[in-house]
Amino acid sequence: MRKLLEFQVRQAGLKNLVVLSNRAPYVLQGGDGEITATRAVSGLVSALEPVMTACGGTWIGWGGRIAEQSRVGKRLPVPLEQATYALREVILSREEYEQYYHGFANDCLWPLFHCFIEKAVFDHHNWQSYVRVNRIFTESALMEAAEDALVWVHDYHLTLVPGMLKNKGYGGKIAFFLHIPFPPREIYSALPWGGDILQGLLGCDLLAFHLPGYVENFLRVVERLLKAEVDYARGLIRWQNRNILVRALPIGIDYTKFEELARAEQTRRRAGQIRREVGARRLVLSVERLDYTKGIIEKLRGIGEFFSRYPEYRNKVAFLQVAVPSRTEVRSYAGLRSKVEEMVGNINGKFSSGWQVPVRYKFSALDPADLVAHYCAADVMLVTPLRDGLNLVAKEYVACRTGGDGALVLSPFAGAAEQLKGCILVNPYDRFELAEKIKKAVDMPEKEQKARMILLQRSVRQYDLQWWWRGVLAGLARGDAGTPPAKTSAGTRIAAGGFIAKQQPDG
Ligand code: UDP
Ligand code: G6P
Repeated sequence: MRKLLEFQVRQAGLKNLVVLSNRAPYVLQGGDGEITATRAVSGLVSALEPVMTACGGTWIGWGGRIAEQSRVGKRLPVPLEQATYALREVILSREEYEQYYHGFANDCLWPLFHCFIEKAVFDHHNWQSYVRVNRIFTESALMEAAEDALVWVHDYHLTLVPGMLKNKGYGGKIAFFLHIPFPPREIYSALPWGGDILQGLLGCDLLAFHLPGYVENFLRVVERLLKAEVDYARGLIRWQNRNILVRALPIGIDYTKFEELARAEQTRRRAGQIRREVGARRLVLSVERLDYTKGIIEKLRGIGEFFSRYPEYRNKVAFLQVAVPSRTEVRSYAGLRSKVEEMVGNINGKFSSGWQVPVRYKFSALDPADLVAHYCAADVMLVTPLRDGLNLVAKEYVACRTGGDGALVLSPFAGAAEQLKGCILVNPYDRFELAEKIKKAVDMPEKEQKARMILLQRSVRQYDLQWWWRGVLAGLARGDAGTPPAKTSAGTRIAAGGFIAKQQPDG
């Protein structure tokens, strides 16, 4: 994998890679003398870290540290035990942390882009802070990037950076990847600073989203709000005498790495230990950040319904819920943890059998090796977000099922559902349907599991991390040259960057 990624970079003629994301790959703690670094948990980090490890370069991001003044910090070789690339730390002031990170990024853009418009807070001070922090990131990119570099900006925190770089005269290549959904025009239009954000994004040469549907939303918004010329068939925007290429490129995983880890003797042993500890006949796993978009409360309602309809499963099926702490100080997240824990308590109080409880709950992250062992131990993976840009956990589970068995229950509101033919689709808002689909998954005959898993694995293996990275490089190399049109399910022709959304198999 590493060699292939390196080769692709050389082929693309890139001399240097500079990645920008709000969240750095490591959470840094301590003073400058004695820093400890813990790996940050998110799909963004899981996707970019292997690319950076293979290709080298600089990753600019906030390591979680706060000082009196926001500023660009030092360069740090990472990973600490065997450095392969540099982390340029951005340090936020307490005010920027509150206003830019909590206020604008997570209390406004996050809910709005996930279509939770009622949760979005529109505040001018927060917006101004967002502009200031985007400027700091832009300055840090200019410190790191030569003209033959690729500056690759990630996610909703940094939408203004591409435009700011262009305005400062940066002449190298700029790409942007959005890790979350891009909402329909009716929702995006509520954002008072929507035009500024679009103009910021159009500073790029290449803009990429997970799904053709997000690309389509974006193109429509740009056409309507900026009156820019849009070529839907080729995924091109004409703006200020430049062409910007827009692509759908759903992130893939390093399939071979997960497969190898799943086959390792140590992982098998740990998976066996997990099963013995849980003791139930069938084990159902869920792993996600504790975020309202992930639908944990709705899922727990479905689990309660399942045990109440099917009491015979009470001592036969166990649910493991890993809830990774996330944005605990953000307003819209307050109360989520206690609500989830209360519901777990209620289900266990009501449906336990002897001293065996049906739901085991963990409020912490698993390290990658332990996570793989959990994937190996689980008969069923339950991934039921209310809305999710993609969802890598679903793909990782599939890659780890080296015996070809296991069942994936997936919400159609996870971007990954468009690719994962072979899953069991479930509407997370319907607790009755959840109960039925859980039953279907735990009862699924091995033959059917294996037939479905073949389809799932084929897709996850084909559209892997390397495919994704190749797509980004191809997009950059192609620039505004002719690209073949593709069809969306709605019949609108939009560019899909080699990935065409397929509609789901089954429910
Ligand atoms: N992850 C992890 N430990 C955990 C839970 C998750 O390392 O306890 C990783 C997981 O392997 C995946 C990422 O975090 O790569 C989560 O990505 P996903 O796209 O599912 O969701 P996000 O958190 O980005 O919304
Ligand atoms: C999602 C976002 C990432 C973010 C991550 C964790 O995956 O797309 O940009 O880093 O959540 O959230 P946090 O607020 O802790 O960075």
